[in-house]
Amino acid sequence: MNVVSETVRGQKGRVIIVVGGFWGDEGKGKIVSYIASKYRIDAVARAGTGPNAGHTVVHDGVTYKLRLMPSGFFSENTRIFIGPGVLINESIFLQEVDTCKVENRVFVDRHTGVITEEHIELEKASQHLMGKIGSTGSGCGTANVDRIKRKLKLAKDYNKLKPFITDVSEELNDILDNNGTVLVEGSQATFLSLYHGTYPFVTSKDVTASAALSDVGIGPTRATEVIVVFKAFVTRVGEGHLDGELDADEVIRRNWQEYGTVTGRLRRAAPFDFKLARKAVRINGATNIALTKMDILFPELKGATTTDALTKASLEFIEKIEEKTGVRVTYISTGPEAKALIIRE
Ligand code: GTP
Ligand code: IMP
Ligand code: MG
Repeated sequence: MNVVSETVRGQKGRVIIVVGGFWGDEGKGKIVSYIASKYRIDAVARAGTGPNAGHTVVHDGVTYKLRLMPSGFFSENTRIFIGPGVLINESIFLQEVDTCKVENRVFVDRHTGVITEEHIELEKASQHLMGKIGSTGSGCGTANVDRIKRKLKLAKDYNKLKPFITDVSEELNDILDNNGTVLVEGSQATFLSLYHGTYPFVTSKDVTASAALSDVGIGPTRATEVIVVFKAFVTRVGEGHLDGELDADEVIRRNWQEYGTVTGRLRRAAPFDFKLARKAVRINGATNIALTKMDILFPELKGATTTDALTKASLEFIEKIEEKTGVRVTYISTGPEAKALIIRE
């Protein structure tokens, strides 16, 4: 499998990027936690907008609902970094450091932007953001406005963050120069990108694979593998068009209902969109696809771990994705737990 493949283009080290293919909540947390438990990852670096994300990691029977901490946090040998392109909320960060017990190995870039209560209040009072766009109310958009105005305070300006401050780009490039492996974890997803998404119903920055690298300060020539995660059906929270959207009764009848990790909203749902998947694969330069919630689309796959378990219908679905996108579906997730996964070499 490519995760352990040889170094490309003579570069030292290995960089694996994981990003969402549709509108977020594809189950990136699940895929990242598998990769982090299976391979020796020296560093996991969080990219993406900030605490507007909510991802779910199930590890050793414990379910973690995280907003800032990368999903690959649990290995004692892995150092955790939050890049300068990401926004943090000081109290959410400190709380998650505590919950995940990672105080000795988590670092924040000195230039990571910090969201204040004022940003949250401003966002919650904005009819445009909350009403029209369906923002999460986490203050990310309003903080990024201040960042663009060059007014936003950065992590280095906060006393409680002092013990965690570092230069993330230096650290990650040093790890790579020593032949280490860095996992870059995106949040949100391709069609929530400010540039490539369904504007204006998008988040407040670019969140594609290229942006994820920039968020943490790694150059594009160092990327070895880009895993784009798709769910077996499409979901979307907030506003904006969704091709093939089903009404709420039909979503429940199909057992596709999900509720937002951050907002608790019922996620809107539609069948898998092959055309969008192809576009996502191209924008991100995907090398592999991970497909989640296959147990929901094909209940007979629940908990399966081997390719023998793939039924004719599920295999046809997988092969159609490969045919339409030109990229191999390497990971097939069959349940929320890390071990419920089929690997196709
Ligand atoms: P974002 O960073 O917001 O995109 O989060 P995420 O992609 O990690 O997804 P999120 O946790 O918001 O939602 C995914 C949900 O699906 C979680 O409750 C996961 O535990 C669950 N999940 C992930 N993979 C599978 C799967 O293959 N089958 C089932 N049944 N559930 C899954
Ligand atoms: P904002 O980034 O909070 O301003 O939200 C803008 C849009 O992106 C809204 O439609 C949100 O629902 C959506 N969004 C932001 N972050 C996520 C995420 O992590 N998962 C799914 N949707 C998200
Ligand atoms: Mg989510």
